[in-house]
Amino acid sequence: MTSEARFRVVAVVAALVSSACAGYAASETKSHALASPESFAAITDVEKRSAAIFTELGKVLTHPRCTNCHPAGDSPRQTDFGRMHQPPVTRGADGHGTEAMRCPVCHQKANFEPGRVPGHPEWHLAPREMAWEGKSVGEICAQIRDPARNGGRKMEDLIEHIGKDTLVGWAWKPGFGRSPAPGTQEQAGALVEAWVKTGAACPAP
Ligand code: HEC
Ligand code: HEC
Repeated sequence: MTSEARFRVVAVVAALVSSACAGYAASETKSHALASPESFAAITDVEKRSAAIFTELGKVLTHPRCTNCHPAGDSPRQTDFGRMHQPPVTRGADGHGTEAMRCPVCHQKANFEPGRVPGHPEWHLAPREMAWEGKSVGEICAQIRDPARNGGRKMEDLIEHIGKDTLVGWAWKPGFGRSPAPGTQEQAGALVEAWVKTGAACPAP
């Protein structure tokens, strides 16, 4: 290889690497902050304050990192635009896929960065009754409060589930090219706690 040709190869590789990094940085800055529970203190009506806190939490619940796995219908979604999962997969009997296409065939125990495949040991689809895709924050609120549609959870359990569960936590470290859910998991947990302690009121549907 002449030195000029070698220089061209190096330049092309450098350009590819830097454009990949620029894509990553852009998706990082898309993530936005969450307001703290204290910042709602000025709303003196407790029920209104509670509903306002839930509306803030709604920024997380309606984010594609959550709704892609809480879809309407039987197939997960992908990307920040919520396109249909490619290749086509469906939930199967247990949310872990059909016998021919089990989720863990592709989704490993952790994100697989070279293939850009997200991962977690429990990677599977939220049950049908927990679908959030296309719903308003008020509708999701009513659903999340309903033990028949939230996995039989008490309100208090949701503080732990949203604030600590590691599958939920994946949404804040989703891997290459995906924008993370807003704020941090800890901040989301603090909002759930403040919402429950103020009576778990819902915004208008
Ligand atoms: C044949 C391989 C394969 C199978 C099987 C598979 N997936 Fe995926 N999945 C992928 C790949 C690859 C991506 C990453 C696509 C991207 O982000 O560009 C992905 C992305 C996703 C995402 C998007 C995450 C996000 O917010 O960006 C969800 C949700 C998902 N899969 C759920 C599932 C579920 C649930 C199952 C089982 C029912 C499943 N997948 C089965 C390959 C697979
Ligand atoms: C990889 C798929 C996946 C992702 C991503 C995901 N979930 Fe879930 N979610 C599930 C599954 C599966 C269940 C049912 C598990 C159960 O009931 O124990 C569930 C259940 C829940 C529940 C309890 C049921 C309900 O609807 O009240 C909450 C709350 C929840 N998820 C919150 C979130 C939030 C918040 C995010 C994003 C920050 C998120 N999830 C992202 C798969 C996912």
